[in-house]
Amino acid sequence: MMKIKLRNKKRGGDYGNATGREARGTKSSRMSLNLEKMDLPPRPELFDFHGVSMIPCFTDNWENYQNFQARPDDILIATYPKAGTTWVSYILDLLYFRESLEDRLTTIPIYERVPFLEICIPGLFSGKDLVDNLTTSPRLIKTHLPVQFVPKSFWEQNCRIVYMARNAKDNMVSFFHFDRMNKVEPDPGEWSSFFQRFLDGKMVFGSWYDHVNNWWKKKESYSNLHYMFFEDLVENTGHEIEKLCSFLGLSPSAEEVERLSSSVQFDNMKKDKMANYSTAPVMDFKISPFMRKGKVGDWKNHFTVAQNEAFDEDYKKKMTDPTLQFRTEV
Ligand code: PPS
Repeated sequence: MMKIKLRNKKRGGDYGNATGREARGTKSSRMSLNLEKMDLPPRPELFDFHGVSMIPCFTDNWENYQNFQARPDDILIATYPKAGTTWVSYILDLLYFRESLEDRLTTIPIYERVPFLEICIPGLFSGKDLVDNLTTSPRLIKTHLPVQFVPKSFWEQNCRIVYMARNAKDNMVSFFHFDRMNKVEPDPGEWSSFFQRFLDGKMVFGSWYDHVNNWWKKKESYSNLHYMFFEDLVENTGHEIEKLCSFLGLSPSAEEVERLSSSVQFDNMKKDKMANYSTAPVMDFKISPFMRKGKVGDWKNHFTVAQNEAFDEDYKKKMTDPTLQFRTEV
């Protein structure tokens, strides 16, 4: 990979210029996600979109992103919200660009390095435009779309897809705290009503149960899909990175894997301003941080005994594929 050094690195003004950004893998400062001056609209309401609960900022650009032109070396990072998207994005970004574009790690937030394809705030920015402006190869692209909504060119180009799944209980808790602090998400309401909505699949991007099951089934017909579990990554980060690398056709040394596993541990990412979303103004960290706990089993601090029983009963009915198993503790 080509080594690119930036001149005038210390001069504040340099970071906004297009040439500097290009050297770090994104084309134009015009595309920066600076929402600071934006008057936030009221929190959105969910509506049914082709059978999936959605909000306008993920459907407004539908036609446009459905026509997205993927390239064969694009890598799609697909997840249900709060399953560890940022973690996988960060791992992939370091794997590909730590050596060649090192300045990007300290100057460009992860949500610009790995743009969110379907997001769109009309008149301000769209994830698709951010992807189109990436100058990296491969391009790393984030999506929360259920598998049936993925733009067809990803399949046609046989792109590599990394799907990360997280057990429903912790996923639900993380989603609840996210919706409390993220002003562009629907109001989560009280925990008990959020809990019921999650079971009913009335969440942004729809039902967790459908999402993880349908992506799992997709592996049968599409082999360029690597399905990972949050719990495995917590338990043995190095081993999961090795499996991921093997899927990507990369062969880092044992030392490189060790260094990477240590860089991507929760405490390190939480401290990293370019990874912890502290630069995203729509999020109110006084309510809850984006990098909140990063644990398996935090659901035990939220679920009542009755909720846990109701959850388990309902789970058995919905999760009937014995080949797809989640762990709620490690
Ligand atoms: S989003 O908004 O959908 O993109 O959020 P996402 O990145 O998918 O999920 C955020 C949760 O992932 C946790 N996280 C991590 N856990 C452990 N180790 C590392 N390195 C890590 N990075 C992110 C993050 O803390 C959120 O989970 P909770 O349970 O809320 O802490």
